[in-house]
Amino acid sequence: MIIVEFDIERVISEMTVDEKISLLVGAGVLWLPDNPAPRVKGEAGETRPIERLGIPGMVLADGPAGLRIDPERENDENKYHATAFPVETMLASTWNRNLLRKVGEAMGEEVKEYGVDILLAPAINIHRNPLCGRNFEYYSEDPLLTGEMAASFVEGVQSQGVGACLKHFVVNEQETNRMTVDTIVSERALREIYLKPFEIAIKKAKPWTVMSSYNKLNGKYTSQNKWLLKDVLRDEWGFDGLVMTDWFAGDNAAEQIKSWNDLLMPGNTYQIFKHRRPEIEEIKEAYERGDITDEMLNERVRTILKVLVKTPSFRGYKYSNKPNLDEHAKVSYEAGCEGVVLLKNENTLPLSPDTKIALFGTGQIETIRGGTGSGETHPRYTINFLDGAIEKGLNVDMELAEFYRKKVSDFRATDYVITKGQWGEDIIPRLPQDFFSEEDIEKYASRNDVGIFIITRISGEGVDRKLEEGDFYLTDDELSIMSKLSNVFRKQGKKFIVVLNIGSPIEVEGWKNLCDAILLVWQPGQEAGRIFADVISGKVNPSGKLPTTFPKRYEDVPSRSFPGEPKDNPQTVVYDEDIYVGYRYYDTFRVEPAFEFGFGLSYTTFEYSNLKLYRDGGDIVVTFEIKNTGDMAGKEVAQIYVRAPRGKIDKPYQELKGFEKTKLLEPGETQKMEIKIPVSSLASFNGHCWIVEKGEYEIRVGASSRDIRLIGKYVLD
Ligand code: BGC
Repeated sequence: MIIVEFDIERVISEMTVDEKISLLVGAGVLWLPDNPAPRVKGEAGETRPIERLGIPGMVLADGPAGLRIDPERENDENKYHATAFPVETMLASTWNRNLLRKVGEAMGEEVKEYGVDILLAPAINIHRNPLCGRNFEYYSEDPLLTGEMAASFVEGVQSQGVGACLKHFVVNEQETNRMTVDTIVSERALREIYLKPFEIAIKKAKPWTVMSSYNKLNGKYTSQNKWLLKDVLRDEWGFDGLVMTDWFAGDNAAEQIKSWNDLLMPGNTYQIFKHRRPEIEEIKEAYERGDITDEMLNERVRTILKVLVKTPSFRGYKYSNKPNLDEHAKVSYEAGCEGVVLLKNENTLPLSPDTKIALFGTGQIETIRGGTGSGETHPRYTINFLDGAIEKGLNVDMELAEFYRKKVSDFRATDYVITKGQWGEDIIPRLPQDFFSEEDIEKYASRNDVGIFIITRISGEGVDRKLEEGDFYLTDDELSIMSKLSNVFRKQGKKFIVVLNIGSPIEVEGWKNLCDAILLVWQPGQEAGRIFADVISGKVNPSGKLPTTFPKRYEDVPSRSFPGEPKDNPQTVVYDEDIYVGYRYYDTFRVEPAFEFGFGLSYTTFEYSNLKLYRDGGDIVVTFEIKNTGDMAGKEVAQIYVRAPRGKIDKPYQELKGFEKTKLLEPGETQKMEIKIPVSSLASFNGHCWIVEKGEYEIRVGASSRDIRLIGKYVLD
């Protein structure tokens, strides 16, 4: 066999202008009729091949909770299911870099074995407001946690020889009018909060690709913003991969190319948006006018080819269509177990093995594994909470369980039928919850030891969540059954537990006293029921911590401008809370949250001791010890917050600057922790440049942002 080396420069010199332009524009909206069939059914898009030059197309597919491709193909008996992992917010709740890497490796293997080249994940926008419809697809309100989780995930994905994609670059923190809204943000907040996770992940993990966002940034579409895509991304941070648009984004193809947005996806936008013209034509005209130069075309083509030559498609990888789904199910389970956050526990959990459990809420049947839209997944199965509990041998009231099974299926067959929306998505009417009288509940309470009520929420791309009952607030129906359950179980001296199966915070303050324990299982992917069962039974000791604040009241949330002005059709959203996002706001302005950033209980207790600080080159090294002082093995997430001295720039009360999760510590076992804080990470952006203030810094080591266990001082001069 003769191997002819693919010399990118030579190939560029042989390409015609038309061929070059064709490489910059995706192959089109392949899921529409009259288009070539997609190579992998359910993929998001492809680039155009140039056969004459031996350039194949690349296949791109979503998304953050698992590879999103169609499980079924016409005239094909085989199935193409991919694993559903916990949503990103839950992955971030693990605070476990190794686990994120492992999840990335597993997803990367599925990407490769199903014939895909680039996974359109991770999504790393910030939880600016609890109502963003895609929060579940994002990690956290904090840029460091987001960036670190993303970096580990990207390393995992790319270790498989496929590419990852950091999206959506940048300030895409809402779904309302996401394709046109103009996000107005100061350069300080932009750099410290919103760009930071991208910067961290790019420098640490070198993702192959970045996706620019739909929205405008201070007046310009991000995909048409040279300052963002060239000056910051490439020149300052050294990014050398390719930038693609989000699907159909922006309004000017030539501007996108000129602004260093290399690839326009999915291509042929006019097939969906009738007012747009073919991108290829627009670029060609700009070229003929001299507005786009040969040098520009060559530069973009070079960037794309450099990524393309690394892909399985280019290397002619013979994919199997048989990824290791059984192994990955275990990874999904493990990640879910570590992402569960125990929010409240008054001598209730874990349940002893013979505890008789009465499970309430239709969510035990219709458990939510993840959100909708491009972050959706199509796994082989989803184990719901009820089946998980039964499979794991928990002592569940089976008569009640069978009642729920029948009730849910009757509802869905009659008044609450699931229908299809305009994009083929499921429209799922919300089910009633309060169909028991006090007497019914008394019967269940007297023959069981605990009552558990499950609350579910789902959201997704294209729409934000609502400040309404049934979304941010509980419905009257939910509140009514919860208070009945609470009254009756507690009156009988029995415990009442609430399980939250949600993707983003809801209001909890008004009802949290009704129950003895609250378990936040987020949207945990396909292994939901097994994770739930193993955590409540104590087989798994919860070790998740909140990556996002649960406010007491929505009115406390600092991003009051969400989702922009005018309210009925927002054109502009001003991020006027500036850097005071999440705990940076609550801590600085002394607003008490319901559950603070970094919070999460365990079935055991941990003691922190022996804090030492020293300087090693550019780092402040923080060492301390964590001891498991309880009687069950468990893991702890140690968090380091830094309080800066008063200087020229206003600073938040404290900021997360480091974290580390312990190994599984046996009762009595101690682990020595060592966390490095780069001095450069203490810098703030003063509007022109980054500066590190001199003076005394308080190094605060804690189990949450409001449970600080050790404090040390470090002077920078
Ligand atoms: C989403 C992206 C996604 C793309 C392709 C867009 O609507 O915003 O996150 O990767 O579609 O499916």
